[in-house]
Formats: sequence, structure tokens, C-alpha cells
Amino acid sequence: MQLFLDTASVTDIRTMWEIGILDGVTTNPTLVAKEGRRFEEVLREICALGVPSVSAEVVATETDGMLREGRHLREIHPSIYVKVPMTPAGLRATRILAREKTRVNMTLIFSANQALLAAKVGASYVSPFIGRLDDQGQDGMELIRDIVQIYRNYKFPTQVLVASIRHPVHVLEAAKAGADIATMPYAVMEKLARHPLTDLGLAQFLKDWEKVPKA
Ligand code: E4P
Repeated sequence: MQLFLDTASVTDIRTMWEIGILDGVTTNPTLVAKEGRRFEEVLREICALGVPSVSAEVVATETDGMLREGRHLREIHPSIYVKVPMTPAGLRATRILAREKTRVNMTLIFSANQALLAAKVGASYVSPFIGRLDDQGQDGMELIRDIVQIYRNYKFPTQVLVASIRHPVHVLEAAKAGADIATMPYAVMEKLARHPLTDLGLAQFLKDWEKVPKA
């Protein structure tokens, strides 16, 4: 399973990239706005680190504008995936971009039928937002299981990118469901490596080591 960071913070991305557990990055207009920096400059810095998959979202709402932005974004770096929202205009744009060999991440997916359509028009990734569904009282993980099953049934090559992750249990459940990718905030990725018993065990080992004769 691939692990992505859901952020536009180059500092956070660099940290995880250097540890060696990062497979990609997803951004969205909200995350980019938080950084207060020019979008393209941020994208170039992320790509320059060597991150192999970097999703950058279009903000146009009509197909022509999406195509214009998508074609521009893909020229920035070969690692760019163009993120397109799940709307009729977005489906049309994705179909055209996919035929031009541009890799598209269809975003704002909240139903299995939307994911089915994204796969049919050739999206490389589909991004179901599970945390936002949970917030509404729906089971976000059930959507992941449905999409994984549908894609398996019909052998769609589209990868399931679990988005809107809020905590480590989401990552665990996504992995158990067979999702291809989980994208998460920095704080969640950091927690994946941690366990209080690891810290306690290490402290005890170091304490006991002091008792071992050294010469
Ligand atoms: C995914 O690509 C989105 O950027 C993201 O996961 C949305 O998460 P949120 O619901 O925490 O905003």
C-alpha cells in the first residue's frame, strides 16, 4: 500500500521523504492556501525532492477551463497528477485528459457510482473522502470496500486513493480493505510509527544497558 501526505507544506513533505516512507503527495486549494505561497512554486519544490506522484487540482468548473489548467499543470513536472472534481464537466475533462495520457486523480468522490464513472472515463486515481462521510454519520470505510470490490469485479486499473483520513485506524482499515493508497495529514503519518510500549521498552533497554559492564 502506498502512503501519501495530504499537504502543501514542503517542510513536512521533505521530512517524510527523507525518512523514506513517502510515496506521494496530494494537495488541494485549501491546503495550498494555508501555505500562503504561489502554487506553481510549491509544486516545483515538491517535485524537485523526487516525490514520484504529486496531485495538483484544477479550479476551473467548466471542461474547457479544466483542460487548459490540466494541460498546464502536467507540463510543470512528469510527477504531476491532475486532480479534477467529480462533476459532469470533470468527467468530460478526465476522459479527454486520459486519452492524452495525462494521469488524472478524480476527487470529491462520495459514492461508489461516482467511483465507477471515474474509472470508466480513465482516471488513474479515485479519491473517496472518508472522513467527511464519517462526519455526516455515514461509514466512509464501507464506501472504500464497495469501490475496491467494484474495481476488482471489472478489473478497472484505476487506483483507490483513500482521502480525508483523520486518524491511524482509517489507515489500518483502508489497508485491510485492499485500497491502493492512503493520503493523510502529517500528524497522522507521524502517529503510524509510534506506540507507547515502543517508547517504554526502549527506555527500559537503555536503562538496563547502563548496568552492563563496559570494560
Ligand atoms: C484529498 O486529496 C483531499 O485533499 C483531502 O484528503 C481532504 O481531506 P479533509 O476532509 O480533511 O479536508
